[in-house]
Amino acid sequence: METAMTRLTVELGARSYPILIGEGLLDELGAHVAPLLKRPRTMIVTDTHVADAYLAKVGAALGAEGISFSSLVLPAGEATKSWEGLARLTEWLIGEGVERSDHVIALGGGVIGDLVGFACSIVKRGCAFIQVPTTLLAQVDSSVGGKTAINVPAGKNLIGAFHQPALVVIDPATLTTLPRRELGAGYAEVVKYGLIDDADFFAWCEANGAALLAGDAAARAYAIAHSVAAKARIVAADERETQDIRALLNLGHSFGHALEAETGYSERLLHGEAVAAGMVLANAGGAALAAHMAHDKKVRGGKLPLILTRGIGQSFVTDEYGLDSVADFLDAQAG
Ligand SMILES: NC(=O)c1ccc[n+]([C@@H]2O[C@H](COP(=O)([O-])OP(=O)(O)OC[C@H]3O[C@@H](n4cnc5c(N)ncnc54)[C@H](O)[C@@H]3O)[C@@H](O)[C@H]2O)c1
Ligand SMILES: [Zn+2]
Repeated sequence: METAMTRLTVELGARSYPILIGEGLLDELGAHVAPLLKRPRTMIVTDTHVADAYLAKVGAALGAEGISFSSLVLPAGEATKSWEGLARLTEWLIGEGVERSDHVIALGGGVIGDLVGFACSIVKRGCAFIQVPTTLLAQVDSSVGGKTAINVPAGKNLIGAFHQPALVVIDPATLTTLPRRELGAGYAEVVKYGLIDDADFFAWCEANGAALLAGDAAARAYAIAHSVAAKARIVAADERETQDIRALLNLGHSFGHALEAETGYSERLLHGEAVAAGMVLANAGGAALAAHMAHDKKVRGGKLPLILTRGIGQSFVTDEYGLDSVADFLDAQAG
């Protein structure tokens, strides 16, 4: 039986790729992956939580199409997106005999997706990968667009590459096992699309957000498809963030990343929670944040391009404020 499925495309010329969205799609993963493979073999990278819930299911779906696989289960959590995690993953891939035409499957949240994407951008000078996101944040944001990275002590996502996936397969049913706090964090990135340029969608979120967070399948399916379509459109228009279009997706993120740095990228503050705080600036913790923001990779000539809003659905990019005025602003918020 085939699942009802939404199919979107990220239009990037020769690097275009499909995004498939549908409840229960994980059970059909093999059928969607098989046409991409040169040999019937793949490597799955996931984390401990996701492996417990979905690795057997994914393995069965691949097996049903005659695809053999090996798997690497990394520790769950942001700390895996590190030099150590990258070394372990790339050496494992080499040990597994990865070839440039292989498609490695990233099964998990944004941590696994970002790490696997980056590893696949450098191993053997680049191999293909497939995103199978299992958190709301990854399903609406990180699995699409090809930004890959690890964190280093100087800052988050400072070492990375643009490397687009070959396919994104989103099964919203995986969200039924996602902890409520993670669902809420991902929801911040959903609301972000409304704030950026879509007041109607923001209004939809106000009306339906509670149902989505309570597990309403229709609401989450709509929110995911709408968010992913927005992300795909923005990425197609400005893949490498050179034209201030993709930069809009960073709404709340410069402040958010500074907050994450202050809390050591730990469970104390999830990425989506930091973004939510960043978007309203309610929790801005003072001028210490400005020092972290000076390391933000988006700094150009001592000025940090900021993404601000004039109102719901009216975000814009500006670099007319120096770091000094950002520090003054945060002081005012904290005071
Ligand atoms: N590349 C991009 O464009 C982009 C965009 C936004 C965020 N990010 C990155 O994404 C990362 C955050 O991603 P995240 O919020 O998905 O975190 P995550 O990958 O750490 O997942 C959150 C937690 O949920 C668990 N989990 C995942 N799926 C589950 C499921 N279906 N059921 C039960 N548990 C599940 C994970 O094991 C983990 O403990 C950050 O590192 C951030 O920088 C990247
Ligand atoms: Zn984000």
